[in-house]
Amino acid sequence: MGSTLSPVLSHHWDAEKSWTLATYEADGGYQGLRKALEMDPADIVTAVKDSGLRGRGGAGFPTGLKWSFLPAPDGGPRYLVVNADESEPGTCKDTPLMMASPQMLIEGVAITSRAIGCDHAFIYVRGEILHVYRRLLRAVEEAYEKGYLGKNILGSGYDLDVTVHAGAGAYICGEETALLDSLEGRRGQPRLKPPFPAVAGLYARPTVVNNVESIASVPAIITGGVDWFRSMGTEKSAGFGLFSLSGHVQRPGQYEAPLGITLRELLEMAGGVREGHELKFWTPGGSSTPLFTAEHLDVPLDYESVGAAGSMLGTRALQIFDDTTCVVRAITRWAEFYAHESCGKCTPCREGTYWLKQVLGRIEHGQGTMEDLDTLLDVCDNILGRSFCALGDGATSTITSGIALFREEFEAHVTGGGCPLDPAASALFE
Ligand code: NAI
Ligand code: SF4
Repeated sequence: MGSTLSPVLSHHWDAEKSWTLATYEADGGYQGLRKALEMDPADIVTAVKDSGLRGRGGAGFPTGLKWSFLPAPDGGPRYLVVNADESEPGTCKDTPLMMASPQMLIEGVAITSRAIGCDHAFIYVRGEILHVYRRLLRAVEEAYEKGYLGKNILGSGYDLDVTVHAGAGAYICGEETALLDSLEGRRGQPRLKPPFPAVAGLYARPTVVNNVESIASVPAIITGGVDWFRSMGTEKSAGFGLFSLSGHVQRPGQYEAPLGITLRELLEMAGGVREGHELKFWTPGGSSTPLFTAEHLDVPLDYESVGAAGSMLGTRALQIFDDTTCVVRAITRWAEFYAHESCGKCTPCREGTYWLKQVLGRIEHGQGTMEDLDTLLDVCDNILGRSFCALGDGATSTITSGIALFREEFEAHVTGGGCPLDPAASALFE
């Protein structure tokens, strides 16, 4: 873990056996749940609404507002599902959070479940991260043993069961409705929205689907209060978050900071770009967001400012690329990812991502034409806004922004017969 400005989520990550219940309790853990159990559930929803907490999974939808969309209780079940299927390239914040502090997530699950009137919550973990799945299983077991889960939690009369479920490892299962299909035992593919999960989610019942970091932020809001939370970040992007710095940076890692911090400030904490090199481009929020360059070093990393500068805050996955990087190669690797992960449900994405991969591949290896650049933009145009879910749209972001920012580098691959930075790479193309 890197240094932090306002450590809350990562407060005890460096403690010995940070993942145990005893360590979490010694650091003030479960005080939020104790307080929440004495509150009216509606007041918990109001507190989270007033805090301004926005979904940390990428979309930034107001968390408390999402909870308030649940219809009035009708006597049937309603569910909380934690989306722990973190899979966006570069996104690596929920995994360390769950490894280092699983009890914080479980406390957030218990508070949220009580707020929305749920007595069975699910944590859907990405299939590949078996170590996280095991850690969560043990943490849930510990929470049951200590009376934080199960029947009559802390003598309050409130009952809650938590099931940890491992997916089978598909990026699309991070899309909330595909996740719900997968959890129900079906092939994970997005559902038509509306109805949103808040109305018809798991087993067609009202369901709140929230990201790991969103839920892990809830205990601190309950103990610290709305004003404290709003004192960090910006007016419309309140609070703190984990910023994941990876790539060509001296000290990659998780940096917890108030929203609105800049990449320049984060790089200062992370020791800067790799020695002897300059920043060339970066992703503010993973591979589904338009690229930024050194010109954007001072853009405040909050939802509004990043949006106004032409990208998206997304998952705060800051992938840093220095001047040794071939932008065409980086974008091609991402395109390969999207083509592989497209679920195939809709034609623009299924066919479009395949062709993006093909055309980029031949440009990267010096076998493209100038017309291929227009073909790429045309294919992107036919995917964007025409795909069934956000995966298709996301596949186009780095391509359109990459061509806009680095067109001459794409052209150099065409005119020079391959990569000007690494001519040998062209020979590898089949
Ligand atoms: P979205 O904006 O469609 O929805 C966000 C949330 O708000 C959802 O839970 C949705 O159900 C809810 N919502 C929106 N309007 C609603 C309404 N009228 N009534 C009730 N609920 C409503 O965004 P989406 O497609 O869920 O997520 C896209 C984002 O996911 C991208 O911006 C990207 O940053 C992020 N993402 C994150 C990944 C990761 O690994 N963490 C992977 C891929 C994408
Ligand atoms: Fe599936 Fe892609 Fe269509 Fe989403 S956009 S439904 S991932 S084919």
